[in-house]
Amino acid sequence: MDATRHQRFLMCRPTYFAVDYAINPWMDPTAPVDVDLAIRQWEQLRQTYRDLGHAVEEITPLPGLPDMVFAANGGTVLGGRAMAAQFRAPQRADEAPAYRAWFEAAGFEVHHPKHVNEGEGDILLAGGHLLAGTGFRTAHPAHAQLQEVFGYPVLTMQLVDPRFYHLDTALTVLDEHTIAYLPEAFSPGSQAVLRRLFPDAVLASMADAAVLGLNAVSDGQHVVLPAQATGLAAQLRERGYQTIGIDLSELRKAGGGPKCCTLRLLQGGE
Ligand code: ARG
Repeated sequence: MDATRHQRFLMCRPTYFAVDYAINPWMDPTAPVDVDLAIRQWEQLRQTYRDLGHAVEEITPLPGLPDMVFAANGGTVLGGRAMAAQFRAPQRADEAPAYRAWFEAAGFEVHHPKHVNEGEGDILLAGGHLLAGTGFRTAHPAHAQLQEVFGYPVLTMQLVDPRFYHLDTALTVLDEHTIAYLPEAFSPGSQAVLRRLFPDAVLASMADAAVLGLNAVSDGQHVVLPAQATGLAAQLRERGYQTIGIDLSELRKAGGGPKCCTLRLLQGGE
């Protein structure tokens, strides 16, 4: 495999995973969750990355923070800089200092957020731009700070469907120039921007998005996505990607999939 495709990821074992509160429409605190199964499914995701040659680093999970498994929300890392997260929900607030400490120990130049921003859940590098979600979690003023910190043009993406509350539930970056997304998850203006920037994008169906199929991780060649998103997988194979389906049924009960569990530690220039 082409060594340039190898990536560096941060993950957090779901040791203390639970659905104790509801901060998105996927979460039902009365429904049972099998933590052991969640851990086994997460281990399979980690193994898949390792088999693909990617480096997986881990942050120590903390008790009382059941959503800490969703490492993508811990911050945004690009070119040696880390923008720390500031969570909207008080239940997740204590995750922010834990991730910040990890970034500091790992040697990143850490920037402190002035506004709510939920890291790579809402901020994705694609086509030389930072696409930045807002509407449910990340506050719009955070976008300007991201542009100052990273020096990439930031494009605001207005999310309109509460089921797709983070950008990474509605849009997947496939490679430097290609994305897949669910048009209906975005405002008309944001849809127009996406059409203009990515005329060849893969347009996902609601059926695939509704199993969090767009919460996928691509290295430009292989796409790791929820096993249930069979239609999207077929679309991606038609475009020449190799797809790897992973069952994260337990973590989906919290509204998360493979991408949510994965923070990319991007070098810049990608
Ligand atoms: N229960 C978590 C929340 O609502 C799920 C986070 C999923 N993360 C993501 N990057 N989409 O905050």
